[in-house]
Amino acid sequence: MSTLITNIGELVTNAPRPAGFAALSDAALVIDDGRVAWTGRAAEAPAADERVDAAGRAVLPGFVDSHAHLVFAGERGAEFAARMAGVPYSAGGIRGTVAATRAAGDAELGGNLRALAAEMLAQGITTFECKSGYGLTVTDEARSLALAAQVTPEVTYLGAHVVPPEFESDPAGYVDLVCGPMLDACAPHARWVDVFCERGAFDADQARAILTAGRAAGLQPRVHANQLGPGPGVQVAVEAGAASADHCTYLSDSDVDALAASGTVATLLPGVEFSTRQPYPEARRLLEAGVSVAIATDCNPGSCFTTSMPFCIALAVRDMRMTTREAVWAATAGGAGALRRDDVGYLGTGARADLVLLNAPSHAYLAYRPGVPLIAAVWRGGRLVAGSAA
Ligand code: NIG
Ligand code: FE
Repeated sequence: MSTLITNIGELVTNAPRPAGFAALSDAALVIDDGRVAWTGRAAEAPAADERVDAAGRAVLPGFVDSHAHLVFAGERGAEFAARMAGVPYSAGGIRGTVAATRAAGDAELGGNLRALAAEMLAQGITTFECKSGYGLTVTDEARSLALAAQVTPEVTYLGAHVVPPEFESDPAGYVDLVCGPMLDACAPHARWVDVFCERGAFDADQARAILTAGRAAGLQPRVHANQLGPGPGVQVAVEAGAASADHCTYLSDSDVDALAASGTVATLLPGVEFSTRQPYPEARRLLEAGVSVAIATDCNPGSCFTTSMPFCIALAVRDMRMTTREAVWAATAGGAGALRRDDVGYLGTGARADLVLLNAPSHAYLAYRPGVPLIAAVWRGGRLVAGSAA
């Protein structure tokens, strides 16, 4: 069955090449067999089996969230409250979530995960990545990934999140486990391998070893880089040919140059800086250097517990000085680039029909009306999966 969505005030299509924001006004779009079959002026639209009137509202590609940690149990509301009262964020808080995750049954973990995935979908995220990293034993990492694989194809093995307490005196032994038996158990469930390359987590040599082992097992690299301070993460990511270097909060000139000369996307996670009171990444410096920039939520119980891409877009515009167009592109096509996906993040003929109808006339309202639920309806693969077009 085909569906015509017409009377679209602003249709954000995004241009694949050269990459950039693109939009049509007074537009229409036809969905057929789960794909975009036609886009253009509403007056020229072909007929379809079903007709949806957008009543002058905006339609965007579904958001692509290329960085999220959704498999966990427990919560850290008290840690957040203490942080807002002056206690700095550190990687150590991850261990509390690890203890709760290990103690949880599969039903609890899967239930939490599905609830967060549903929250994302209702807010327009139609593709998301999901990491392990709160199990940190062979069994708990493998089950985290198996659960993640039930809700998304973009599954990331993050056994190298932190060194768990039982390996505190033997970090090298933990790296061997991550590169050996844990990887063997996890690789069948995952597409990506990630490492938290940071003081207090894994250093450059350990990160390289983990990415190399992951690649040998068929996984593609991505890296948590330069989140808490300057460090080698971005260089490690670029050397490894990673799809993405994530966070990029503290960058040197050579980090920016390396990203600009590479195919590695800089994925910025402004919800983290909001929730940890750190300085925001310098998005303008990256954009002006020609780096490809994505925005993602980093939804996790510690550094940023949001599933709202509109909130992240608003932060990117207000606090990282991205234009509304740059921010929306980064949250759609940018995220697709960070996941090396060419079927999502844009609305051209042949794209997967993942789209969001806003209760607003233009994409700018996502930042102009922060905190307001503007997502009226969400289609994924051509099917209406949240809200209503009425
Ligand atoms: O992306 N940086 C490492 N991992 C997460 C935080 C995880 C946590 O605090 O539980 C992040 O910010
Ligand atoms: Fe993260």
